[in-house]
Amino acid sequence: MLLPIEKLLRENDVQQLRQHLEGAHAVKAKLWLDGKRTAGSLARNVKDNLQLDETSDLARSLSQAVMQAVSQHPLFISATLPEKFYPPRFNCYQGGGSYGLHIDSSIMKRDDGETVRTDVSGTLFLSDADEYDGGELAIETAFGAQEIKLNAGDLILYPSTSMHEVRPVTRGKRFAAFFWIQSLVSDSTKREQLFELDQSIQVLTVDRGPEDQEVRRLSGLYHNLMRQWAMP
Ligand code: NI
Repeated sequence: MLLPIEKLLRENDVQQLRQHLEGAHAVKAKLWLDGKRTAGSLARNVKDNLQLDETSDLARSLSQAVMQAVSQHPLFISATLPEKFYPPRFNCYQGGGSYGLHIDSSIMKRDDGETVRTDVSGTLFLSDADEYDGGELAIETAFGAQEIKLNAGDLILYPSTSMHEVRPVTRGKRFAAFFWIQSLVSDSTKREQLFELDQSIQVLTVDRGPEDQEVRRLSGLYHNLMRQWAMP
């Protein structure tokens, strides 16, 4: 399932982030490094972008801010059932830069030494769609490739098991934050079923109240499925 969450960041927050990222371009060019550095050996050949030096104070504080906003969003929590994060990093595509078809590494090691199994991938767009040409995030699904190009502040979530690419950016700059989640439920089909059920329970709870017998029964079903499917 590809799930867009529009306007996850407020406009003010987007503007502040952008100022920092563009400022780092203008003044401290050394903060933007070749993206190949952090690619796996197979992805390295097809990756052509810039990444904000993740060890810099700037990257750390921006990453923290994005993670905070994302991890509190109810739809995000319902869809991903997060257990661990691989914290957000920032990239920039320009001048024909692209990231050819690849699959993300399954296990990633964080700076603090923790490993994260990548179950869900997230891309938070930080440029508006009309600021650049190309740069679509194309994700392969059972129904063909889906091209995603959202506005600044919008998030797309997709299963990390999907092949995907970023098409060449032929005009302007495309800024984004990207991150991964290890979910309590690694299987994307099961996770999607829990999401559907949870969304439906939430609507019914508003309609009928939390004391309603069917709401209780469905909530019980949700938790019992979670108990069976959640894995450490
Ligand atoms: Ni990727």
